Amino acid sequence: MCGIIGYIGNKQASDILISGLSHLEYRGYDSSGIALMHDNKTEIFKAQGKLINLIEILNSALPTYKASHLGIGHIRWATHGLPTTANAHPHTCTCKKLTLVHNGIIENYKELKEELIQNQKNTVFRSQTDTEIAAHLIAYEYGKTKNLLKAMQNAVKKIKGAFAFCAIHNDEPDKIVVAKRNAPLVIGLGEGENFVASDIPAIIEYTKKAIYLCDYQVGVITKDDVKIYDENDVLVQNKIEYLPFEAMAISKMGYKHFMLKEIHEQGDVVRNVLSSKILSPVEKIKLEEFKLDKAKIKNIKRIQIIACGTSLHAGLVGKYILEKFAKIPTDVESSSEYIYRDTIADENTLVIGISQSGETADTISAIKQVKKENSHVIIITNRADSTMARLADSLMPVNAGIEVSVAATKSYMAQLMSLYILAIYLYEQKGLNDYDGEIINLKQELIELPNKIETLLENVSDIKEVARKYANYKDFIFIARGINYPTALEGALKLKEISYINATGYSAGELKHGPIAMLDENMPVLALLNKGIVYDKVLSNCEEARARQAKLIAVTNYVSKKDEGLFNDIILIPSVSDTLSPAVNIVVLQLLAYYISEFLGKDVDQPRNLAKSVTVE
Ligand code: M6R
Repeated sequence: MCGIIGYIGNKQASDILISGLSHLEYRGYDSSGIALMHDNKTEIFKAQGKLINLIEILNSALPTYKASHLGIGHIRWATHGLPTTANAHPHTCTCKKLTLVHNGIIENYKELKEELIQNQKNTVFRSQTDTEIAAHLIAYEYGKTKNLLKAMQNAVKKIKGAFAFCAIHNDEPDKIVVAKRNAPLVIGLGEGENFVASDIPAIIEYTKKAIYLCDYQVGVITKDDVKIYDENDVLVQNKIEYLPFEAMAISKMGYKHFMLKEIHEQGDVVRNVLSSKILSPVEKIKLEEFKLDKAKIKNIKRIQIIACGTSLHAGLVGKYILEKFAKIPTDVESSSEYIYRDTIADENTLVIGISQSGETADTISAIKQVKKENSHVIIITNRADSTMARLADSLMPVNAGIEVSVAATKSYMAQLMSLYILAIYLYEQKGLNDYDGEIINLKQELIELPNKIETLLENVSDIKEVARKYANYKDFIFIARGINYPTALEGALKLKEISYINATGYSAGELKHGPIAMLDENMPVLALLNKGIVYDKVLSNCEEARARQAKLIAVTNYVSKKDEGLFNDIILIPSVSDTLSPAVNIVVLQLLAYYISEFLGKDVDQPRNLAKSVTVE
C-alpha cells in the first residue's frame, strides 16, 4: 500500500511521475501528490482521491512545473490520518526545503514527535501523518550535517517500523536520497537519468536495468550515478538485474471492468498453469520448480500454508487436497496470526507461502520468521520478481498475468491450480498407489477444466438474474461443507469487498451452532451443493435454513426434482467432481459478486478502503 516514485534526468519529470503513479494505483487511491524541483525550489501538487484528480490540478496549473527534471511522487492508502489533501504526500519540513514521500508505517512516530518538539520548538506540523514526522526528523538531522545522505542515515537509525523513503532537498538539487526497511524499492538505471519506484511497472517503460535496494541500505541517486551504502556506511554494489517485463498497455479489452475481464481469462489461466506440468493423465507431473529431492519429500512430516485474504482461501482448499493426496498433515494460517505466536516448524516442515503480489507484509514477515527454522519454503506467487519470490527456496510462479482489479479472481484460480499440481506431484514423488485411478481421473478432469469454465462463462444469465434479485439485501450467508467451505469464505469475501454487503461464509454444519439465529426472510443463504460425499448433509442444512424462512439459492451440479422446490433460485454449473468443484463454483461466486456490485453502481475495480498490495503489517 502506498506507492512511491522518483525521477532525475533530462526529461520532464512530471510526465514520468504521473505515468509511474498510474501504474502504482493498485497500491492505493486515497490521494496522490508530486513534488517537482526546479531552480532550487520545490513545487508540490496534491489531490484527494484518485490520480485523475491530481492530473486535473496539473492541467489547470501554470505550466512552469514542466521545466522540472527532478521529482518525487506518491499514491496513498491511508494509514495515519484521514485521506485528505493535507495528509497526502509529499510532506515537507518546517522550512519546506526538504520533501519526502514514504511507503510504510513509522511505529514510533509519537515518540519521535515528542523528541522533535523538545529539540525544535518551532516545528510546524501540517498533517496527521507519521510520514511528516520523518520529514521533520530528516530535516533536523540535515541541520546538524548539511548533508542529505548523512541526514537520512542518521534518521533511519531512529525510526522503528517499515519504510521506503524518497527525499529531496532544495540545497542539494542534484539528487534523490532513498532508504528502505521492509518495504519494496527498486532503482531503475537509465542513460543520463535514473528512476526509483515501489514496483517495476512504474518504470519499465523507461528502462529494463534495475537494482533492488536491500533493507537498511541508503542510496544516493543522481542523473548519472547511483551510490548505495549499507548500515555501516560502507559503499556497496548491488547486483544489476535485467527486468523480465515488457512495457504493456493494460487494457480492459472491451470489458466494462478489469474484474470481469480477469474472470473471463480464467480458462486460459488454467491452461497456462497446467500446460507444461500435466502432459497427459498417465504421465507423472513435471515440477522442476520444486527443489526438494525424493528422499527429502519422503521426510516431510507436515505442511504449513501461510497467506492472507484470497490467497489464504486458496491455501484452505490446498489443505484438503494435500492431505487427501500427499497424505501430509497440513495447517493453514493467516500470516498475520502466524507471526506473533510460537509456531513449530523445522527442517521436516514444508512451508508454502501464497501471495498474488508477493509483497504482502504479513506474509513476508511470516516467511522470514520460518526461514530461520530451516524449513523448505515454497512460494506460489503471480509476481516472480517480488520480495517473496526472492525469499523462496522453491518458486512456483503462477503466471496469471497482471491482475488489475483489486478483487483477486484469476490469481486465485492460478493458485488453486498450482496447489492441485503440487499435491499430485508430492503424491507421485512419494510413490503412493493410485489403486482406484483417482489421480488419473483428476488429471483428466484438470485437462478438461478450461473448457468447463468457458462453458460456464458463455451463459451467465441465471447469475445476472440472481444478482439483480438479491442486490439490495444488506446481509448474505454462503454455506458449504468439505472442500467447498473455503469457496464459501472466498465467495463472501468477494461480495463484501466490492459491494460492501455484509457477507459471511460458514461451514454448513456450523450454521445450527449459532448463525442460524440470524436467519429470516431478509437473509439470503447461498449453498454450494455438489454431488459428492457431503451433498445430503448440505441439503439437510438447507432444509434447516428454509424452515427459518431464509431465501435459498443453490449453486449446484445436481439437484433432484423432489428437492428443487426447496430453493428460491438455482444456478446450475457444469458437472465436475467434488475434488475439483472449488475451481468451478468460485467462478459463479465471482460473477455474482461482480454483477451485484455493478448493479449497485459501486467502483468494482477499485473498491473503497482497499489496495491491491498490502505492504504494511
Ligand atoms: O497479494 P496477496 O495475495 O498476498 O494479497 C492478499 C490479500 O490482501 C488479497 O488476497 C486480498 O484479500 C484481495 N483484495 C482479495 O480479493
